Amino acid sequence: PVIYIPGDSGALALGADKVAQAVAEELKARGGEAKIVRNGSRGAYFLEPMVEIETAEGRVAYGPVRASQVKGLFDAGFLSGGAHELFLGDPEKIPFISRQTRLTFARCGVTDPFSLEDYERHGGLAGLRRAAGMAPAEIVAEVTESGLRGRGGAGFPTGIKWKTVLDTGDVQKYIVCNADEGDSGTFADRMIMEGDPFVLVEGMAIAGLATGATKGFIYTRSEYPHAIAAMRRAVEIARRARILGPDVLGSGRAFDMEVREGAGAYVCGEETALLDSLEGKRGMVRAKPPLPAHKGLFGRPTVINNVISLASVPVILDKGAVFYKDFGMGRSRGTIPIQIAGNVRHGGLFEIAFGLTLGEIVDDIGGGTATGRPVKAVQVGGPLGAYFPRALFDTPFDYEAFAARDGLIGHAGIVVFDDSADMLKQARFAMEFCAIESCGKCTPCRIGSTRGVEVLDRLAAGIAPDRQVELVTDLCNTMKFGSLCALGGFTPYPVMSALTHFPEDFRPAPMREAAE
Ligand code: NAI
Ligand code: SF4
Repeated sequence: PVIYIPGDSGALALGADKVAQAVAEELKARGGEAKIVRNGSRGAYFLEPMVEIETAEGRVAYGPVRASQVKGLFDAGFLSGGAHELFLGDPEKIPFISRQTRLTFARCGVTDPFSLEDYERHGGLAGLRRAAGMAPAEIVAEVTESGLRGRGGAGFPTGIKWKTVLDTGDVQKYIVCNADEGDSGTFADRMIMEGDPFVLVEGMAIAGLATGATKGFIYTRSEYPHAIAAMRRAVEIARRARILGPDVLGSGRAFDMEVREGAGAYVCGEETALLDSLEGKRGMVRAKPPLPAHKGLFGRPTVINNVISLASVPVILDKGAVFYKDFGMGRSRGTIPIQIAGNVRHGGLFEIAFGLTLGEIVDDIGGGTATGRPVKAVQVGGPLGAYFPRALFDTPFDYEAFAARDGLIGHAGIVVFDDSADMLKQARFAMEFCAIESCGKCTPCRIGSTRGVEVLDRLAAGIAPDRQVELVTDLCNTMKFGSLCALGGFTPYPVMSALTHFPEDFRPAPMREAAE
């Protein structure tokens, strides 16, 4: 049989390597015949390390497995799916997994990430093969028609971005994949790069064929060593199989790519700072216009898309725009991989059509807090996202619905807090984060964030509280409308949402103590 043990860094952090070693030792000691495949994670991190085994009746899972439990598993007949307290049955029937609609993450945690054969057997390469026989404008039209919008956070229509690049007459164009996943509580990019790296290679190659770009770069962070190694290995395999190179799948068109490592500055996830960093400079934000689509990497027209945007393209080309567009609500079409993190019982990645409410995600899918205390707030969209109180849990996961409530979906990470969270401290953290990560180019962000920390400190100390609230509100307004990029411009979201929805936490210390 084949035994699947995730090699994904989330599972590794929970001891997957030790489990794999214990399984190998046990197999050796018992003379058992089995192949161990280090696959990606299915994203149910509360069950990791989740070990799966192929039995005569199909795949069965056990988890979360500790290395010390491996011997017991073998004693219980684990190789033929024997009963054990860690037995989870068919992994596809675990509610956290069965309730998902996996289009982008269809293979993640299922296949061997480095087997092209396995990839193709599970639908891989069908999109690129189709694209190879299409004219560039036809590919762009298909992506536009699908309604796919940028999954990095801004939600800009991917097809329109591609069309802008296609329409430029330049001889050299680039595809840049923004894999600088810096938002707190997000891990979708990492998970797909480690669990199904070929899907990103395929998506980037399709983007190349669609726009006439012959070279691609994946820009990711040095904190992602496993993702970097996985992508490099996958690119090498794809080159050898002529999926990348001078003649992509016999299309007569060229596309190749490489992986570049950043040093971990949060601002390098902003597309123009990313370009500077990729060009070997210090990551500083550039003023727009010109848009990168017109003048991007080395001054050439450049498509910059997030990992998930690009990884969603193969299924669109394979199954068609209409199939993809059928999922979702309003102008948010297709599926979104929601990353559930923080103080939550069932943390992990949950891919589903747009439209689920925040309450369903937190209470139903996430199972409430890990501490068992009431949920106080949920931050949606990373450190620059707004805090949502329970009163707003009816907000559907949709770009426009979140914007209408002064929030953002961002990269679809949600971080859950229980009632012990101090929202004034969280607001201060947002300002401090901005002060540390600011690239320093514009005043509202560079100076405003430092002043913001001071104002909130005075508020916490009970010094003229009404005046501090007025000041921080005014400051947030200046940062929101006066900053050059989203770092300074979005820091007001966590600050103002905390202040608006949890005013009781912003009462100065002596008054708060008296009330308690
Ligand atoms: P933006 O709204 O300025 O641009 C969105 C994208 O569309 C950019 O790639 C831009 O170049 C492109 N674009 C705009 N008009 C275009 C046109 N006419 N033709 C072709 N392309 C066009 O947003 P920005 O500043 O790039 O991103 C902000 C978002 O980033 C926020 O919503 C936030 O959620 C997200 N974010 C994501 C993080 C992550 O870790 N993924 C971290 C921090 C923020
Ligand atoms: Fe740099 Fe901040 Fe201005 Fe963005 S908002 S350009 S990070 S100083």
